Amino acid sequence: MNNYLLSALISYFLGNFSTSYVIGKTMAKIDIRQYGSGNAGTTNVLRTLGKKAALLTFLGDGLKGALAVLIGFKIGGNNAALISALFVVLGHNWPIVLKFKGGKGVATTLGSMVAIYPLQAIFSILLGIIIIYKSRYVSLGSILGICSFPFFMFFKGKNEFILSLALMFLILFTHRANIKRLINKTERKIGQKVEIR
Ligand code: G3P
Repeated sequence: MNNYLLSALISYFLGNFSTSYVIGKTMAKIDIRQYGSGNAGTTNVLRTLGKKAALLTFLGDGLKGALAVLIGFKIGGNNAALISALFVVLGHNWPIVLKFKGGKGVATTLGSMVAIYPLQAIFSILLGIIIIYKSRYVSLGSILGICSFPFFMFFKGKNEFILSLALMFLILFTHRANIKRLINKTERKIGQKVEIR
């Protein structure tokens, strides 16, 4: 099999491992997608299951992003790593094993960004953290942090820049409902809890 195709396939299925779904099922016997925002991701785990579960979700989803990039690199070098970065996020957002209803890809995107270009990724992450801290909106910080990545990647090579643009468009697409809520001022702020019934 072609190296790029192999990297894409492995990364897509690695992305299918939804940390929040597994944590929801093991810690509280719930499907996290039926609570809060319905998103299988860190922020929704935070508001539904608390800080420890959210930290585990962030680490699990982030590490799989980084792992996919490393596997891609081993299989086919730099371009395969970039393909892996894209496909692990696609696998997280639209997992076949969860009937294509996954997360919004923030932690997984950050993990793959760190594995590709740590310095540029750290600038984007710091920007995101500052925005979350100031605004109390995780979605706003996630969107703007990841959307800043292409600016830092502009001089890093054509394929790297294209990947960063693809990650940016994916984040904008998966956060389209959040963007509407931010505009309507109905977006949930960090710290708002959801009760498990
Ligand atoms: O982790 C994704 C975050 O940016 C928004 O999540 O649950 O508020 O839609 P949520």
